[in-house]
Parts: sequence; structure tokens; C-alpha cells
Amino acid sequence: MIGIIGGSGLYNLITIEESKMIDTPFGIPSAEIEIGDFNGKKVAFLPRHGKKHNIPPHMVNYRANIWALHSIGCDEILGINAVGSLKEELKPGDVVIPDQYIDFTKNRKLTFYDGPEVIHISSADPFCPRINKELSSVSKKHGDTHDQGTYVVIEGPRFSTRAESKMFRQFGDIIGMTLVPEINLADELGMCYSLIANVTDYDVWSDKPVEASEVIKILKENEEKTQKIIADFLKIHSEQRTCECKNRLENARL
Ligand code: ADE
Repeated sequence: MIGIIGGSGLYNLITIEESKMIDTPFGIPSAEIEIGDFNGKKVAFLPRHGKKHNIPPHMVNYRANIWALHSIGCDEILGINAVGSLKEELKPGDVVIPDQYIDFTKNRKLTFYDGPEVIHISSADPFCPRINKELSSVSKKHGDTHDQGTYVVIEGPRFSTRAESKMFRQFGDIIGMTLVPEINLADELGMCYSLIANVTDYDVWSDKPVEASEVIKILKENEEKTQKIIADFLKIHSEQRTCECKNRLENARL
């Protein structure tokens, strides 16, 4: 089953059959998980920032979210994110399907393995190439889509300084606050992880620095488009995991 972690505006895509609050060894997730049906396919939804959007990026219990989705049978995760653009050609309203990230987070619980078991998973190719391909093929029908890109992940909740943004522009294509450790934790459980990144702003390197109200405005304007992309994706999505993601734990132990 695929688990979708994103905004609450996505619930009306599926017929909800069950709503579950799941207690995990790492605490409780951001909200109840809604499980439902889309054209005969089972899907689970979890709003990353809570149902009332009251959990900031640095306070999300990422371990509980991923553990909970895995515990109900999700072996794939589709994340939805708002991101800033670090490149002129990535315009607000565009979609990026990233294939790499650089982690600048500072204070997050990054792993399920705090000892005594020690593992080092490979992060060379952290996203699922199979789901990425499916996503870019459907997203292109709904507007400008960039089928690769490097996501710079910052701690937040503040936006970057101009000096930071200038530096991040040397490193990546888009910038956001929530990809890490969500992706690492999914990878540690051998789940597939892919992301729809919705570009909302030009961060702070252009004339007018980003403001939270602008991010929300662009996100709302693009909500319907995101829903259409997800609906089209679910129509073509194959649950046959022919990718290598499930083997990530092989050779990860010392
Ligand atoms: N989310 C949306 N826009 C962002 C930006 N410019 N920086 C960090 N996170 C973001």
C-alpha cells in the first residue's frame, strides 16, 4: 500500500474507510491515518503538520509517522512538499520530482537505529526511481515539471538569510524543511520514497524575499493541480516493487 504524507487538502481524493491513531515505540504520529480506496487501490493519508497544521517542520515526529505507516502495511511513501526555488528556471507553480538532496538539518531524530544495533544504509540514490518515473510522466500533463533536482533541506522554521541562500544556490535546485529525516527513515525500513515538490517562491535570493503568506497562497492556488497529479499517478501506479529500494538494508550492518 502507498502512504501519502502531505496537506490535509488531499483527503477528498479517496473514499475513507478507516481512520486510525497509531501508537508507536517513538510516540504518536502527526494525526490519525486515514485509509481509503482510490479506484480499487488502497491508500493511506497522513497530514505531516497535523490536521490543524499546528506542528512546525522541526517538531514533526518523523519517526512515529514513518513507523506508523509501515506498521499498517505501507511499503511505499509519496511525500508532498512546498519548496522554494534556487534556480531562475524553476518557477512558482512548477513541480520538481527530486532525485537527490543535501541535508542541512541540525537537530532531528534521524534514525530508527540508535544502538545497540548499528546500521549504515546507502543514501547514494535515496529516492525510488520507479515512482519518480511514474510521477514525472503524469505531472507533465498538468504543467511545467522538472524530473530531477537536488533538494536542500534546512532546519527551519525560519527561512534562510540572503548569504545562506546564495550558498545554497551553489548546491541545489530547491529548498525546503521537511524531506529529511522523512526519507531516511523510510529508506531504513526498505520502503520506496518519492516526492512531489511544489515550487512556491524564489526563496530570498531574488528581489523580494519569501514570506510564509506567499507560500500558502501559491500552495492553495496549486492544490487542485496537485490533486489531479496524485489521482493520475494512482491510476498508473504499479505496486509491483521491481526497484531495488527493498534491498537497502542488505549489507548495511557492520
Ligand atoms: N518552503 C517553501 N518555500 C521555502 C523556502 N524558500 N525555504 C524553505 N522552505 C520553504
